[in-house]
Amino acid sequence: SPITIAIDGPSGSGKSSVSKAVARELGLAYLDTGAMYRALAWWALHREIDLADQNAVAEAARALPLALSTDPARASVSVDGTDVTEAIRETRISSSVSAVATNLDVRAELRRRQRELIDRAREEQGGVVAEGRDITTVVAPDAEHRILVTASEEARLARRSLDVHGAAGAEHLAATRDQVLRRDRDDATVSAFFEPADGVVGIDTSDLTFEESVQAVLDVVRG
Ligand code: CDP
Repeated sequence: SPITIAIDGPSGSGKSSVSKAVARELGLAYLDTGAMYRALAWWALHREIDLADQNAVAEAARALPLALSTDPARASVSVDGTDVTEAIRETRISSSVSAVATNLDVRAELRRRQRELIDRAREEQGGVVAEGRDITTVVAPDAEHRILVTASEEARLARRSLDVHGAAGAEHLAATRDQVLRRDRDDATVSAFFEPADGVVGIDTSDLTFEESVQAVLDVVRG
């Protein structure tokens, strides 16, 4: 029978790379819900929509012409035929994504699409690893497995600095710190992803390697 593995966590917790690896290992689909919010931010900026205009951004969410691959071996995102897989990782998107993600009408629309994608993956691919900020609590609270991946602030900042700058030296860490901490604080106003909700298993990856983190999730899933 199909399984959904819901994985939440803050920025730099390792949840994206770990979720992708778990999906590959188990032969399941992979749903990166953060990529959906990022794609919306990209499109809103592309169309020069004022991100403070709640109605205009909500309207853009409902009209978003999004195509998302759920193949963990080749994750890709396109908007209106433009491949934005790389572009949505740029700093200008990371620093504006919370503005669209804290819009409650946007969240209603993207959650609706996420549930559709999860249902389809369950029917056609045996299940899905879905990751984000509110998957264990709101999008898929009845998932077979629910996991919160956490890490110390220090570990998260070092990882994110490596992702973005390819280095974790002092000057990079400072720039990363401001950005990541502000985004977490903004995101936390609409989702609870720092403490596991009832029934959610917490995995602290601060002192785990990537492989150990993947194994820890697989251990939870395999019981
Ligand atoms: O890059 P990082 O792992 O930190 O974030 P992400 O998973 O790519 O998500 C990007 C942004 O999308 C987050 O900062 C949130 O603003 C938003 N998001 C959300 O609100 N709810 C989700 N389920 C997933 C992402």
